[in-house]
Amino acid sequence: MSLEPASNRVPVLVLGIETSCDETAAAVVARDGPGRGRLLSNVVRSQWEQHRKFEGVVPEIAARAHVECLDTIIAEALTEAGLSLAELDGIAVTAGPGLIGGLLVGLTTAKALTLACRKPLVAVNHLEAHALTVGLTEGIEPPYLLLLVSGGHTQLLLVHDVGHYERLGTTIDDALGEAFDKTAKLLGLGFPGGPAVERMAREGDPRRFALPRPMLGREEPHFSFAGLKTAVRRQAEALAPLAEGDIRDLCASFEAAVADVVVDRCARAMRIAEDRLGAVRHLVVAGGVAANQRLREALARLAAASGHTLHVPPLALCGDNAAMVAWAGAERLVRGHTDPLDAPARARWPLDQLARPVLGGGRHGAKA
Ligand code: KG4
Ligand code: ZN
Repeated sequence: MSLEPASNRVPVLVLGIETSCDETAAAVVARDGPGRGRLLSNVVRSQWEQHRKFEGVVPEIAARAHVECLDTIIAEALTEAGLSLAELDGIAVTAGPGLIGGLLVGLTTAKALTLACRKPLVAVNHLEAHALTVGLTEGIEPPYLLLLVSGGHTQLLLVHDVGHYERLGTTIDDALGEAFDKTAKLLGLGFPGGPAVERMAREGDPRRFALPRPMLGREEPHFSFAGLKTAVRRQAEALAPLAEGDIRDLCASFEAAVADVVVDRCARAMRIAEDRLGAVRHLVVAGGVAANQRLREALARLAAASGHTLHVPPLALCGDNAAMVAWAGAERLVRGHTDPLDAPARARWPLDQLARPVLGGGRHGAKA
């Protein structure tokens, strides 16, 4: 497709599309220059209601729900931005990692649009979109240290540049969001679990239960959450039937253990980052779990104590959204990174392709 290079135009206008899990989203961003982005529209439709009775995301229901509303959501995003498809410089879409049915819905729609209006396609890695969000919200540009905490991933990464990621640590079992979701489920708090646990924890006693702090003090900044979740289950079984106060205290104690572990692992990664990134001292947190208040506060204290600045997206852009996809797409587009019409949907797509599997990683160990 012969098009004027987007990097020569200002602003660069990109439509983003996100369908990798249970949010159908479309957004438009304008990129005025490095670290200078404007969010022109941001439409997110959550499918929580459709999945709630199954207490988790059902892939086929998710894919069908994306098909039903994606067209409308894209139209809403364009209208809100006051732009037509013809005025865009490119269309960015999450191509992975995620649930394959949903990814195919978004990718096929994006391909049809790019073909119809002769615009470049940018196939975006969902994790890269989370990783670069602070560029849009605060103008923070790589390099920086990133804690990525979502439903499927828990990683510490050095973000050297757009497209250049080095994994320092990962979970050897459950992702942190998964641990929140499973804890919520076993306490009967329903789905999605993270916000439910956080609500209950608010008035609970974080010191009532001495839950384990897995991986604390270990040399490499890896994580493990399966044992913590099991410890909550054991406590819950020992106390059954649970009073509301017990549930609040269990949630608060769980969050306190999580915060201690995450702070310890981040402190370790900060020391590595100081050697590797020199004077740059940004700690960036992204992904759905970054919305957690106790975690944000604990990391703010850590950053302040170690001379780092903490950067976390506003709550609305922590969970899945298309603004981050549009922004990552714009960042790639201005660097000349576009994708062909046969770009594949990828259920697995590690940010650091060279990271080795973690010993003892079990089923999720290779999760990147
Ligand atoms: O990034 P995200 O929206 O989707 C994925 O890419 O996975 O993350 C979703 C995860 C879920 O596990 C959800 O329970 C968790 O983020 N989450 C939270 C909070 N809000 C969402 N976990 C803890 N506290 C929260 N406030
Ligand atoms: Zn996500």
